[in-house]
Amino acid sequence: MTAHVEISLDVNGERVDAHVLPRLNLADFLREHLQLTGTHVGCEHGVCGACTVRVNGDIVRSCLMLAVQADNASVETIEGLSDSGEIADLQAAFRDRNALQCGFCTPGMLMAAQDLLRQCPAPDREQIREHLSGNYCRCTGYQAIIDAVETTARARVGTKP
Ligand code: FES
Ligand code: FES
Repeated sequence: MTAHVEISLDVNGERVDAHVLPRLNLADFLREHLQLTGTHVGCEHGVCGACTVRVNGDIVRSCLMLAVQADNASVETIEGLSDSGEIADLQAAFRDRNALQCGFCTPGMLMAAQDLLRQCPAPDREQIREHLSGNYCRCTGYQAIIDAVETTARARVGTKP
């Protein structure tokens, strides 16, 4: 029998202590142990981006990271960004621009889009496309998502669309 490992981490600003199996990935830990089900699991091998979260400020694919690797880390999920209001304008733009349909990709898209806007406040459409190219959407055809991110970027830097 594999022994559980003790981990302590910060999740959305709250300290979490847990005992986990060494093989448990971070996505499943967030979803099943902490009920943070906004982090979605699609491909489970690093391709679709649905499981994107922030670890120590950088976005990662939580299906490719073990929970034990997050020991002592600071993890932020879509629930944290949403509750803090950090992405309220981006979420509103997604709604207004019809940038989500089934919503499965949306948490990962929002995490990736906010990551871009933190690094590059005024990206052009090609840069937005490039940064989101690792996040798959089966519904929207991507144009509306690019529109929503572009609208948010312009509003944040105070220029008209
Ligand atoms: S579920 Fe992690 S990249 Fe697809
Ligand atoms: S809105 Fe359905 S996968 Fe993107």
